[in-house]
Amino acid sequence: MRKLFAVLACACLLAAGCATTSRWDAEYEKAPEPVRTDWALTKQRCGRCHTLEKVFLQLQVDNDRQDVLWTVEDMARKPGSGITRSEVATITDTLEWYRAR
Ligand code: HEC
Repeated sequence: MRKLFAVLACACLLAAGCATTSRWDAEYEKAPEPVRTDWALTKQRCGRCHTLEKVFLQLQVDNDRQDVLWTVEDMARKPGSGITRSEVATITDTLEWYRAR
């Protein structure tokens, strides 16, 4: 019985470890250096109020950079978004890389 518990505990730890690297992280590993760096900022800014799932679901229906920009500007306008003017372009480029990859 104790052995079973140990195996289960191990499996949980493994699952938790994997959850910290998302499938988006895996994709951005393949991005060129500036994009990879900006991904850290994007994750932080866009994952604060809701999950990143929301962000990437929208990207699937966006057609071009302009679509992506609209969402980012919309979110930056929300009170306390913490997203500055200059970050809007950076985040848009980072998400656009994913959309167009
Ligand atoms: C200040 C909190 C906040 C931050 C930061 C934020 N969002 Fe949102 N987001 C919301 C809320 C609240 C909604 C729910 C619907 C709404 O108000 O538009 C939402 C909804 C969305 C949606 C669903 C479609 C829509 O327009 O409703 C997308 C896509 C989205 N956010 C993307 C982003 C991206 C990309 C970023 C980073 C640039 C971001 N969000 C950062 C609060 C935030």
